Amino acid sequence: MKALILAGGEGTRLRPLTINTPKPIVPVVTIPLLRYQIELLRQHGIREVVLSLSYQPHRIEQVLGDGSSFGVRLHYLVETVPLGTAGAFKNAETLLDTATVVFNGDILCELNLTEVIRLHQDRQATATLVLTRVENPSAYGLVETEKDGRITRFLEKPALHEITCDTINAGAYVLEPEVLRWIPAAQAYSFEKGLFPALLKHSRPMSAFISDGYWIDIGTPQKYLQVHQDILRQRFSPALMVPSSLLEIAEVLCANSVVDPTCRIGEGCQILSSCIGSDSVIGRKAVIENSVIWPGVTIGESARLSGCIVGGHCEIGSNTVLSPGVVLGDRCRVTDYSRL
Ligand code: GDD
Ligand code: MG
Repeated sequence: MKALILAGGEGTRLRPLTINTPKPIVPVVTIPLLRYQIELLRQHGIREVVLSLSYQPHRIEQVLGDGSSFGVRLHYLVETVPLGTAGAFKNAETLLDTATVVFNGDILCELNLTEVIRLHQDRQATATLVLTRVENPSAYGLVETEKDGRITRFLEKPALHEITCDTINAGAYVLEPEVLRWIPAAQAYSFEKGLFPALLKHSRPMSAFISDGYWIDIGTPQKYLQVHQDILRQRFSPALMVPSSLLEIAEVLCANSVVDPTCRIGEGCQILSSCIGSDSVIGRKAVIENSVIWPGVTIGESARLSGCIVGGHCEIGSNTVLSPGVVLGDRCRVTDYSRL
């Protein structure tokens, strides 16, 4: 079985982080996001993975290569204009001849994919959708099901008054090649608003696998920070082992954090529930909590950062205070004593 990862979106909600780094490779605990998905697929026996790209495809290829160093074969398909989620699947038609696992390229989850595939086969479904429960489905695709697991309704981004259940599309599917018939060629078309409602309309069997494992779409700064907290505080153990904290410097308090070994950390710093990317330099007595710092960042003495995301190669002056919610794009300069 092969897999296709939809990784062509522009990641607009994650700007400014995605201006130079497409969402599929933003670092999650210092590792490019797609590496976690690829490892999950590999652990369930899938070794051929098609990456469907559109936005900054070369950056992604550069980082992931041919996949051989992490045990899979990667194929790249690049859209000149974004084809939407279903259009991207149609575009891969010549590479897909059997049932295919499809992942949205921005989700992280615990998932027994082997069971999903087995259920798909047992039910002889045309499409099996993994669903997860959320408190507010309005930012997702709401999916109604019968007790026997048949999907009966699909409603993308419902308004509050349209919400009828708490199960949503988790962005992981098993699709039979038959669905390709229902997708128009060479034009933008979506799974969520096009293919899935069309399959229901034509009574093709669509089946739900409701997963109760951890699940997150990392597509906003809040969710991106959230997944870091969940991994660092061990509420979520992704398929790929995250680096353990490599910091053992006297007079630095470092808890629930991952600091790349190439960083230089000044005396008296406190690093709490945070990640610090390679080659960063942190001045004495700085306090960094619940934050994600990308590579090459300089943070001055006695700066205090809480709940922030700092893009690559930023320079943060001494005694600055960055409050929760601050997101800095690459190469920002914040002068001494600033408060953001
Ligand atoms: N190749 C390609 N081409 N990929 C695309 C395109 C495109 O034109 N447009 C979006 N994608 C990729 C994105 O990169 C992302 O990985 C995935 O498709 C989903 O797009 P998002 O923009 O992140 O969608 P969403 O989060 O608003 O909603 C989707 O995901 C939810 C779960 O996270 C929908 O599938 C919802 O139904 C679902 O609940
Ligand atoms: Mg998304």
